[in-house]
Amino acid sequence: MTAIAPTDWDPRADAVQRDQIAAYDRLREQHGVAYSDMLQWSVFGHAELRRILLDPQRFSSAVSAHVAVPNGMDPPEHTAWRRLIEPYFAAQRVDALRPACERVAAQLLQGLQGCATLELAQRFALPFAVRIQCAFLGWPETLEGELSGWIAQHHRAVLAQDRAALAALGAQFEALVARLLAERRAHGAAPPQDDVMASLMQARVDGQPVSEQAIASIVRNWTVGEIGTIAAAVGILAEWLARHPGWQARLRAEPALQAEAIEEILRLHGPLVANRRVATCPVHLGGREVPAGGRITLHWTSALRDPRVFEEAGTFRLGRDPQDNLLYGAGIHVCPGAPLARMELHVALHAMLAAWADMALVAGDAPVPAHYPAMGFARLPLQVRWA
Ligand code: HEM
Repeated sequence: MTAIAPTDWDPRADAVQRDQIAAYDRLREQHGVAYSDMLQWSVFGHAELRRILLDPQRFSSAVSAHVAVPNGMDPPEHTAWRRLIEPYFAAQRVDALRPACERVAAQLLQGLQGCATLELAQRFALPFAVRIQCAFLGWPETLEGELSGWIAQHHRAVLAQDRAALAALGAQFEALVARLLAERRAHGAAPPQDDVMASLMQARVDGQPVSEQAIASIVRNWTVGEIGTIAAAVGILAEWLARHPGWQARLRAEPALQAEAIEEILRLHGPLVANRRVATCPVHLGGREVPAGGRITLHWTSALRDPRVFEEAGTFRLGRDPQDNLLYGAGIHVCPGAPLARMELHVALHAMLAAWADMALVAGDAPVPAHYPAMGFARLPLQVRWA
């Protein structure tokens, strides 16, 4: 690929991987919009990001030749598919899943019972996200290992920009979905109302049945959307609480503050690093000239900490305007899974605060940050006192 502008930074550099939050903060202040060979135009500022989100005509989501339902689509195609998926995240469905989430959290904590120090990222956050995704999709928990392994390989392939590996992983996921659909077909009789996969098999978009490939894409989108972000978010919440013992006590005593506290902690340390767009025409963006066809990366974690929008942006503060928090995006691609994510994170936070009278970082065993395209922590040792 020929570079279309001089390179401002290297997204794979050690200094970036060591502390992505600090690196993206620096890039936002130095450049606003920065060019790299790997990501082309990276957008770090809140105003520029919001402008892109609200203008799908100039900033298209069709960034890949592969079908990605609905995140890789533009209107009017996007509108029809979005209408299909939104009901799966309706309040009633999310509420119905809460007891299963609580059970998953309780089982995982029971497995850790009695440990005074534990590793939270792999022993609680990741299996919590994977098992709940299985519960949501009606998949057996025996898929936990396969799904965790698939996500880890997917992250490695994205970092390495390994197209062959990404294609192979796509095929592997399609084969998994085909297997699960065949199982449902073999049952013959009308599937239970709440079986997401079976219900997608019967759905129609623009009067046409949904193909197996489209179902695989929808479910893959949900799986990548859920597992990576929820696992990262649970780790981020735990690490923040471990560093703020006063807030552990306050949130335990005032559970009504928990929902807002979660959004503010995740504003400070976003669990989702980036999404992509492509410019459909030449655009002036953050002082740069992006040509038609220019690839754009939206850096959520940086926009969420932009001091032009958030006073004392690096400080935890309740009472901020929720409209400014782009944690779940904005515009037509705003996260449809947000109600599910909020419920899951609330369950996880509540379970940790109830199980442990206090939690702290372990002296001499610091958290290990996750590498792009993951956020949060690859390893999070915690010292806990059981309640
Ligand atoms: C803390 C957890 C989560 C965060 C921070 C998050 C964040 C986001 C953001 C910022 C977007 C907008 C992307 C863009 O504009 O390109 C998005 C889109 C999306 N998210 Fe989430 N998400 C989370 C959890 C989930 C969950 C649990 C699901 C489903 C199970 C999900 C499914 C999706 C889908 C399907 C889209 C694409 C929507 C479209 O293109 O219309 N997300 N998410």
